[in-house]
Amino acid sequence: MAAFQLLFLLLVSRVVASARPPRHVPSCRIVQMDALCRDLNLRSVPANVPHDVQTLDFSLNQVQNLSQKTLAYHTSFHHLNFHSNKIHFIEPGLFRNMTDLKVLDLSKNHLNVFARSEINIGPLTAIESLDLSSNGLYTGMSDYFLADSPSLTNLSLNSNSITRIAQNTFSGSLSLQKISLHNNVILEIEDGAFDSLHHLTELDLSKNSITCITDFNLYNLKVLNLSKNSMELFQSVNSDNPYKLLFLDLSENKMPYFPLLPKNNVLKYLDVSRNRLQSILDSPDQQTNVSLNDLIYLDMSYNQIKNISESFFTHMKSLEVLNMSNNCIGSFSITTGSVLPSVKIINLSYNSLQSLTFEENTLQSVTTLFLQGNDLTTLDHQVFQRLPNIKYLQLQKNNLKVCAPERNQQPTPKLTIQNHLDPSCVSFTSIKNLQFLYLSENNLLTLPVNAFANTPLELLDLSLNPGLDMDKDSLSGLEHSLVHLFLRENNISYLNTHLSTLRSLKHVDLSGNQLTSLPTWNKESYIESLNLQNNNLVALEDSTVLTLKRSLKTLYMGSNPLSCCKNLGFLHMLQNSAVVIPDIETVTCFHPEFSEPVNIEKVTEEMCHTARTQNYIIVALLTLLVMIVLVVLVKCLRSRKRKRNRGYRA
Ligand SMILES: *[C@@H]1O[C@H](CO)[C@@H](O)[C@H](O)[C@H]1NC(C)=O
Ligand SMILES: *[C@@H]1O[C@H](CO)[C@@H](O)[C@H](O)[C@H]1NC(C)=O
Ligand SMILES: *[C@@H]1O[C@H](CO)[C@@H](O)[C@H](O)[C@H]1NC(C)=O
Ligand SMILES: *[C@@H]1O[C@H](CO)[C@@H](O)[C@H](O)[C@H]1NC(C)=O
Ligand SMILES: *[C@@H]1O[C@H](CO)[C@@H](O)[C@H](O)[C@H]1NC(C)=O
Ligand SMILES: *[C@@H]1O[C@H](CO)[C@@H](O)[C@H](O)[C@H]1NC(C)=O
Ligand SMILES: *[C@@H]1O[C@H](CO)[C@@H](O)[C@H](O)[C@H]1NC(C)=O
Ligand SMILES: *[C@@H]1O[C@H](CO)[C@@H](O)[C@H](O)[C@H]1NC(C)=O
Ligand SMILES: *[C@@H]1O[C@H](CO)[C@@H](O)[C@H](O)[C@H]1NC(C)=O
Repeated sequence: MAAFQLLFLLLVSRVVASARPPRHVPSCRIVQMDALCRDLNLRSVPANVPHDVQTLDFSLNQVQNLSQKTLAYHTSFHHLNFHSNKIHFIEPGLFRNMTDLKVLDLSKNHLNVFARSEINIGPLTAIESLDLSSNGLYTGMSDYFLADSPSLTNLSLNSNSITRIAQNTFSGSLSLQKISLHNNVILEIEDGAFDSLHHLTELDLSKNSITCITDFNLYNLKVLNLSKNSMELFQSVNSDNPYKLLFLDLSENKMPYFPLLPKNNVLKYLDVSRNRLQSILDSPDQQTNVSLNDLIYLDMSYNQIKNISESFFTHMKSLEVLNMSNNCIGSFSITTGSVLPSVKIINLSYNSLQSLTFEENTLQSVTTLFLQGNDLTTLDHQVFQRLPNIKYLQLQKNNLKVCAPERNQQPTPKLTIQNHLDPSCVSFTSIKNLQFLYLSENNLLTLPVNAFANTPLELLDLSLNPGLDMDKDSLSGLEHSLVHLFLRENNISYLNTHLSTLRSLKHVDLSGNQLTSLPTWNKESYIESLNLQNNNLVALEDSTVLTLKRSLKTLYMGSNPLSCCKNLGFLHMLQNSAVVIPDIETVTCFHPEFSEPVNIEKVTEEMCHTARTQNYIIVALLTLLVMIVLVVLVKCLRSRKRKRNRGYRA
C-alpha cells in the first residue's frame, strides 16, 4: 500500500515537473569569467556554465557530493565558493589537477561526516586559502584535509569543535601564514605545534578554553589573538631573540598578572582589558625589565587595579592611547616629562580617583582626557593649564568646583600670587586649546563670572547640576567660540546668563528645567536646535519666535503647560516654517473650552477667535438682557405712575 502511494506521488511529481517549462531550471549568471550561482537550490553545476570559468560562487545551494561530476568536469577554476551547502563527501584527488585553484571555501557544510570515513581528500595542489569553518570538525579531523597542502597560506578552522592542536596538525601545510581557530574548544596545544611554520604571522585562538601559555616562542608571529579564553598566565621564553609580535590581544581572560612579554619586542598593540589584574607592581614582569618602547596602544580597562605607579610607564615612549578605565585607581600622577611623552588619549573614567597630578611639562601631547565617574573633589587649580594640547575633557560625575578667574590676568606669571582662591576649585580659564568640556553631574552650585575666559570652548555641558546658580556673565569670553551649550535638568527657573551675546551658539539644550520664559536672543543669534522639553513655559513671546524662526531647524517643546491661544505666533511658525519638531506628539496646550490638553497641531486660529466671538456674544446678550430689564422696569414704573395718577383721579 505504502509502495503504491509512493509510486503515485512520484508519478504526480513527474507530471508536474514535465508540465513546468524548461526555462524555469535556474541558471547561473555569467559575468565575464565569473559564474554566479548563489542560492539557486542547485545540486550540481548547470550546463550553461562555460568551461573556462574562473570563479564559481555556488554558495547556499544543495550540493551533497562534491565530485568531478558535480563540477561538470570543469578544472579551470581559480576561486571556488561552496559556502553553506550540504557537502558530506568529496571525491578524493578532486583538486589534484586544478593547478589554478587558489581559493576554496567549504565553510558551513557537513565535512565532519566525510572526515569520519577517514578518507583523505588528496593533494590541494595550488590552494592558498582554505575555509573549513563551521563543519563540526573535531580534534584530528583537519588531518584529512591538510595532509598534502603545500601552497596553503591562509586557513580558517573557525567555529568547529577542536579541543587539541597536535604536534603534527600542520605538518602537511608548511607554508601557512595565517591560521584562524576562533570559536573552538581548544584546551591544549602540544609543544611545537606551530614551531615548523616558519612563515606563520597571524594566529587567532580567540574564544577557546586555553588556560595558560608558558613558553611563547613564535618569533615570527605578528598577530596573536587569545581574547576570550581562560588564560591565567602568559609567559614568553626567557630569551634575547627578537620577536616580531605587533598585536597581542589578551582581553577577556582571567589573568591576575600583567603578561610576561618578550624582552626583545616591537609590540605596538596590547589589550589586557577585562582580566583580573589587581596590581601592576606584583607582576613577575618587574624582575625582567621588559621595555615596551614601540607600544602605541595599551588597554587595561575593566580590571581591579588599585595602584599604578609612574615607573610602570617609564619606557613607553611611543604610547598614544592608554585606557585604564573601570579599575579602582585612587590616584594618578605623572611628574616627569620623559614619561608618556607621546600619549594623546588617556581614559581614566570610572575609577575612584581622588587625586590627579600632572607636573609642569608633563603629558605635552595629550589631547583627550576622560576622567568621568571618579571622586575628584580637589585638584590643583591649574592642573589643566599644564596640558598645552588638551582639546577634549570629560569631567562629568565628579565633585568639582569652578574657580573664579584670578584677578590678575596680566602675563606676569612669576608674580601671580595664589590669590584668595577657593582651595578646592579648578580653573578653566586660559586653557589654550580646550574645545570640549563636560561638567555635568558635579553638584556645581555656582559658576563665577568669566569662568571660561580665554578658553576657546566650542562645547560646554553643565547639565544635571540642579540648583546651579549662573552669573549673567558666567559665559562671557565664549562669544566667538561656543556652539553647543547643554543646561539640561538644572532646575533653572530664570536664565539670567546672557546668551544673546554668544554669536556662534547653534545648539542649546534647556530641557528639564523650570523655565517660565525664554532667554532673549538678539538679531545676531543663529540658533539651529533648541530643546525646551519639560519646562514651565506658558507662552513664547512673539519677538522671540520671530528671531528664532530665521535660523531654527529643530525644536523640542514637549511637556510644557502651554496656552493654546497665547501662542499664535508659535502656531504660525509651526505651520509656516521648515522647523522640525520631533516631539510634536507631546506638545500640548490648554484651551478654556477643553478639559484635556490639546495637541498643538490641532489648534487653529479660529478656535481662539471663536472663543473671543463667543465672549462678545455673551457680553452682547447680557447687555441686551439688562436693556430689556431696564425697559420693562421703566415701563412698569410708568404704568404704576399712571395707575396712581388714575387713582388720584378716581
Ligand atoms: C559521490 O559521487 C561519486 C561520483 O559521482 C560516486 O562515485 C560516489 O559514490 C558518491 N558518493 C557518495 C557518498 O554519495
Ligand atoms: C589528472 O590528470 C591526469 C593527467 O594529466 C589524469 O590522468 C587524471 O585522470 C586526472 N585526474 C583527475 C582527478 O582529474
Ligand atoms: C583568509 O581567509 C579568510 C576566510 O577563510 C578570508 O576572510 C581572509 O580574507 C583571507 N585572508 C587572506 C590574507 O587571504
Ligand atoms: C581578537 O578576537 C576577538 C574575538 O574574535 C575580536 O573581537 C578582536 O577584534 C580580535 N583582536 C584583534 C587584535 O584582532
Ligand atoms: C631594570 O632596569 C633598571 C634601569 O632601567 C635597572 O636599574 C634595574 O636594575 C633593572 N632591574 C632588573 C631586575 O634587571
Ligand atoms: C573609556 O574606556 C571605557 C572602558 O574601557 C570605554 O567604554 C569608553 O568608551 C572609553 N571612552 C572613550 C571615549 O573611548
Ligand atoms: C601606590 O604605590 C606607590 C608606589 O609604590 C606607593 O608609594 C603608594 O603608597 C601606593 N598607594 C596605595 C594607595 O597603595
Ligand atoms: C579603551 O579606550 C579606548 C580609547 O578611548 C577605546 O578605543 C577602547 O575601545 C576602550 N576599550 C574598551 C574595552 O572599551
Ligand atoms: C528646584 O527649585 C525649587 C525652587 O525654585 C526648589 O524648591 C527645589 O527644591 C529645587 N529642586 C532641586 C532638586 O534642587
